[in-house]
Amino acid sequence: MAKRDVAEQVLDALGGKQNVKANDICMTRLRILTEQPDLVDMKKLRSIRGVLGTVRRGPNGVEIVFGPGSINEVSNDIVQLTGIQPSYSAFRGSSSAPEDSISVQINGHAPIPKAVRAAVAAKKPLASTRVESTANAEDDNEDDIDELASLLEATGAAGTKRLLVVNGPNINMLGVREPKIYGRKTYADLVRLCRKAAREAGFAECRCFQSNHEGDLVDVVQAAYGEFDGIVINPAAYTHTSIALLDALKSVAIPTIEVHISKVDEREDFRQTSYVRAACFETIVGMGLEGYRKAIKDMAQYLSEHDEDEKD
Ligand code: DQA
Repeated sequence: MAKRDVAEQVLDALGGKQNVKANDICMTRLRILTEQPDLVDMKKLRSIRGVLGTVRRGPNGVEIVFGPGSINEVSNDIVQLTGIQPSYSAFRGSSSAPEDSISVQINGHAPIPKAVRAAVAAKKPLASTRVESTANAEDDNEDDIDELASLLEATGAAGTKRLLVVNGPNINMLGVREPKIYGRKTYADLVRLCRKAAREAGFAECRCFQSNHEGDLVDVVQAAYGEFDGIVINPAAYTHTSIALLDALKSVAIPTIEVHISKVDEREDFRQTSYVRAACFETIVGMGLEGYRKAIKDMAQYLSEHDEDEKD
């Protein structure tokens, strides 16, 4: 079953997309605040393939636990279908706010413009990836579900390393933006490529974040501290201007690779300065979206060598 179908079924069981007030995700859970909790069909939710369990949180909250490999795609589809961006703050102070969530939602991107959406829609639906586990839990098994989720979060499905991919301003415009320089592939294509590359490189998790705002990028890098093992970053135009981003990367000291889609070293003079480079152990330019695949592979290699160093 395609992930998109899963998202549609989830929305149906939640009483329709109009019943979703806010959403957020943590490592294995999709968290939903509903308008009318009595419209939620918990049994239906649990019968959806890939759903490992469900928990009611507070008067309006529902958490849906997925395996680590599927949560990102399902939640992205939920965002697209509802048009509501993930928001940690919507859950703050409510009894459904998880203690372990970091303060910045790190699986979002700027709203995708209509033209980009249309480009995505014209393509085939997301590849149909089957979710292996179909184990369901009863309503009253909340503790078991919590334990299961923690276990999944602690161990990951493959390997234990977590990767954060950060993209800066206008990367959400891929596919429309200067195609001669950046190609025809969209941001959604890029996210798919990164997730696949990360899976193949053995990462337990790959989160993709994009924002047009410098402060958001600083926040997400700070929030990665203690949460992620490697960062692949294309700061886009902030590459050439942002000392704040350089300082954030230096502060967290997470191994980082800088990526640029275009041959930035052959372009205008003002693109020849990279502030973030001083915090990165590698820079990849001019390989198009494939540069991200290389960065992810190289990061996996770097982290495994680093682990070996630590064992010696
Ligand atoms: C870019 C290069 C930057 O100079 C530019 O501002 C971008 C994209 C790249 O990926 O080639 O937005 O980072």
